[in-house]
Amino acid sequence: MSAQENKTGLPLVHLGITRPEELSALFADLRGRFNADCACALDESSWKQFRDTWLGRKSGVLAQITDNWLKPATPELKRAVGQQLNELRAHVESQIESRRAAIETGTEETARDRVDLSLPGVIRPVGSRHLVRQVFQEIEDIFFSIGFSVVDGPEIETPYYNFEALNIPEFHPVRDDMDTFYLDLPKGAPTPLLLRTHTSPMQIRTMEKQKPPVRVIVPGKVYRRDNPDATHSFAFHQIEGLAVDTDITFCDFTGTIEYFVKQFFGPSVKTRFRPSYFPFTEPSVEFDVSCPFCAGTGTAASGGTCSKCKGAAWIELFGAGMVDPAVYGFVNYDPKKVSGFAFGIGIDRLAMLKYGIDDIQVFFQNDVRFLRQFP
Ligand code: FA5
Repeated sequence: MSAQENKTGLPLVHLGITRPEELSALFADLRGRFNADCACALDESSWKQFRDTWLGRKSGVLAQITDNWLKPATPELKRAVGQQLNELRAHVESQIESRRAAIETGTEETARDRVDLSLPGVIRPVGSRHLVRQVFQEIEDIFFSIGFSVVDGPEIETPYYNFEALNIPEFHPVRDDMDTFYLDLPKGAPTPLLLRTHTSPMQIRTMEKQKPPVRVIVPGKVYRRDNPDATHSFAFHQIEGLAVDTDITFCDFTGTIEYFVKQFFGPSVKTRFRPSYFPFTEPSVEFDVSCPFCAGTGTAASGGTCSKCKGAAWIELFGAGMVDPAVYGFVNYDPKKVSGFAFGIGIDRLAMLKYGIDDIQVFFQNDVRFLRQFP
């Protein structure tokens, strides 16, 4: 506060004050200014500045009152000025001290902390899990119920785990279907790194760590250099499944898959296998399900061709097979003693199928109008 503002730079006579009763308004004004200053001293540095403004030895407000008002006051005013000054000083000193204590203990609520209960509340919309996450959960629950556990794996992989240990040597034509993104690494890096093209590398990592029996599922994100369209994305989701033990047969494999599909789509769906090829399973199959939208008839309720299965009555679900004995060689399992099956489910397409979504891109656009349909 400047001397001009508080008038303490001028003798009382210059302020036109000649009678004791005129002092009260002057001191009341000062006290009001002091209280306003005090409310702004919220931390140590602003408190110091505030203290010096009021109690500074030479130019503090109280020193000025002493020099400019009290000392030159007429005998008639002197006593009243002294009394008012003492009252103001007591107030100033006690308030400055209690403000210091409050700042030190941190108990003083700052203007920022002060809660104005009259303000309307802040609306914090509650989010929900993304449909892909919900489908992951549904699938995890089904496999939990039959003794599988869930493991997680890295999205950045080496070519060894993504390809070689899965019986896909360099220059194998299957690599063309799984072109992917390689990381830029400094020259001399020991091994190239890539974004995994499937969750299958976790078959190898799991078997490296654990002796049979193995029963795991691996949910996760995978990447391929695929051009986006209604059923392709460069980043999508899979769940890998792997069961290896001393006596697992093809019947265990088909029984497990059928159980899963019926739990997921309902008991009335039918399943079928078609021969397929993956370098890391032998035999390999593609697993189809009777179209859940037309009850496997190929005809829509309206009488026309079912738009989901395009009249085929079957929908392709995922690839699977019995683990190729060659793979056991990479993890020091004895292929004569163990057997097992593996499968890899594309979650995005499975979710599209179950929930009637016709474009995979909506999963990645985060449009709330879509997300809100699956609370
Ligand atoms: C594989 O990825 C194998 N690892 C699956 C497997 C695991 C076979 C274990 C045997 C044993 P495939 O390339 O077919 O297989 O991909 C599996 C599923 O991923 C597909 O059925 C499809 O649902 C999904 N998929 C593949 N490419 C894309 C893509 N670009 N966008 C969305 N989903 C995709």
